[in-house]
Amino acid sequence: MSAGTPRRRVAVLISGRGSNMTSLLAATKDPAFPAEISLVLSNRPEAPGLATAREHGVNTVAIDHKQHMSREDFERAMQEVLEAHRVELICLAGFMRILTPWFVERWTGRMINIHPALLPLYKGLHTHERALADGVKLHGASVHFVVPGMDEGPIIAQAAVSVLDGDTPDTLGQRVLAQEHVIYPLALGLLASGRIAIEGARVRVSGEAAQTTALVAPQLA
Ligand code: GRF
Repeated sequence: MSAGTPRRRVAVLISGRGSNMTSLLAATKDPAFPAEISLVLSNRPEAPGLATAREHGVNTVAIDHKQHMSREDFERAMQEVLEAHRVELICLAGFMRILTPWFVERWTGRMINIHPALLPLYKGLHTHERALADGVKLHGASVHFVVPGMDEGPIIAQAAVSVLDGDTPDTLGQRVLAQEHVIYPLALGLLASGRIAIEGARVRVSGEAAQTTALVAPQLA
């Protein structure tokens, strides 16, 4: 990013521990990163990630969804806060509320999510358990644009990990999480620097290296 170019203003929406939020915060510490975290917003006032964000000096707001009559009422409250903070891009990072088309459509092309599976496989919850039950040899994580359908939307970045014989949902989930922390800052950086074009279901990245790699599992010692 050239000196003087304003960084895109990002809100990270969380419901829990916020380890992905922390990876985004770490990336934005680099002044050359094209985005800054202007706000961390949670629907759960007790979310541990809020305290972490405050330790980093980031503005935090909690909007308890239980205090709102309807989903839309809750989302209108979020929208007001996002506008007040002049937010341009949203990163969902373990945000455990289903968003209505009313909200999603306001943020089309400007809201992304991280999901702990290689989409379009394993949408929804308990992705690591389901991958193990199916016996897949590769599993992973995806960052994608948010559209009204849950865990749908054009995929920006993915990382795959090998599934090991001794894996439990926990051990597999830990290796996937480590990769989430790599691809979320990568995807936000691409979006914030304007290097992404959505073409139908596909995301094209300008300047993408013409290099192909394959991850093969199992890999024997
Ligand atoms: C991550 O596994 C993410 O993929 C999913 O929710 C979890 C959030 O974890 N959407 P954290 O709060 O970022 O640590």
